[in-house]
Amino acid sequence: MTQPALLVVGGTHGIGKEIAGFYAGQGWSVVLTGRDDSAAKSVANELGDDTRGIALDLSEPEQVADALADVGAVGHLVFAAIARDTNTLDNYNIASARYLVTMKLLGYTAVVSAMRDRLAEDGSIVLFGGRAKDRPYPGGMTVGTVNAGITGLMHALVVQLAPRRVNAIHPGIVANSPYWSENPEFPERVRQATPTGRSVTMEDIVDGVDFLIRNRSVNGLDLYVDGGGLVPCEWHWGAPAVGDAQWAGGWRAPATT
Ligand SMILES: NC(=O)c1ccc[n+]([C@@H]2O[C@H](COP(=O)([O-])OP(=O)(O)OC[C@H]3O[C@@H](n4cnc5c(N)ncnc54)[C@H](OP(=O)(O)O)[C@@H]3O)[C@@H](O)[C@H]2O)c1
Repeated sequence: MTQPALLVVGGTHGIGKEIAGFYAGQGWSVVLTGRDDSAAKSVANELGDDTRGIALDLSEPEQVADALADVGAVGHLVFAAIARDTNTLDNYNIASARYLVTMKLLGYTAVVSAMRDRLAEDGSIVLFGGRAKDRPYPGGMTVGTVNAGITGLMHALVVQLAPRRVNAIHPGIVANSPYWSENPEFPERVRQATPTGRSVTMEDIVDGVDFLIRNRSVNGLDLYVDGGGLVPCEWHWGAPAVGDAQWAGGWRAPATT
């Protein structure tokens, strides 16, 4: 069997599936993961002949190495997996927070640890964070925390995995990702307050990931793909102020004088 060139952790759905499909379409060997073995295999079949699906549950970091035992050498690793969590101080759901912190920070790290000797010397890792790390939104406390943790993890991995490269991508709201399909009003409000006047798309994110994978000198970069959405601009665009809306919790535009 051809050795896989790309491992996409969280490749059964949404942006991760889009990334797996993009590289499968380019003729790469792809291994994608999800929690359920048959679901992962079914998505892999959909994406191409040289795509394999395997079960991997990041919330059980101690079992990650066994789950990856028969994955061979890889050129690149992309981590797109996420568990959804809504949490505030007033109603702190510790079990949900623990699950997210475990699957994203410990789980991602356990995969890298298990794969470190199988990752090509000229290979790279792309970790998914998100803009919630800089702009908290109601309920996004733990999401923002783990997204910020991705930057720290990236720095630690850059040092330990050298000469392999490690980068992070932080999308804004990805309007055409399945996550928002039942709540399109929110991405639309974000679009109105984004300097580009357009929504971030899954295609934009795949393009960002491809840049991080291809460019041999990009290392230790937090790549923001958000249309400049964190640049405070409501006085210029006349759009609803994201900072004043439900979305933004602690964010405030700076004084204009
Ligand atoms: N969508 C957005 O607007 C947006 C914005 C900013 C950042 N992001 C980031 O972009 C990445 C992709 O987001 P998305 O919206 O495309 O996600 P998604 O559609 O919800 O897909 C999540 C993926 O994670 C996997 N997964 C969930 N729990 C897991 C676990 N415990 N162990 C292993 N895999 C698990 C799922 O696989 P199974 O269900 O098959 O297990 C699925 O493949 C995430 O890291 C997210 O934080 C997304």
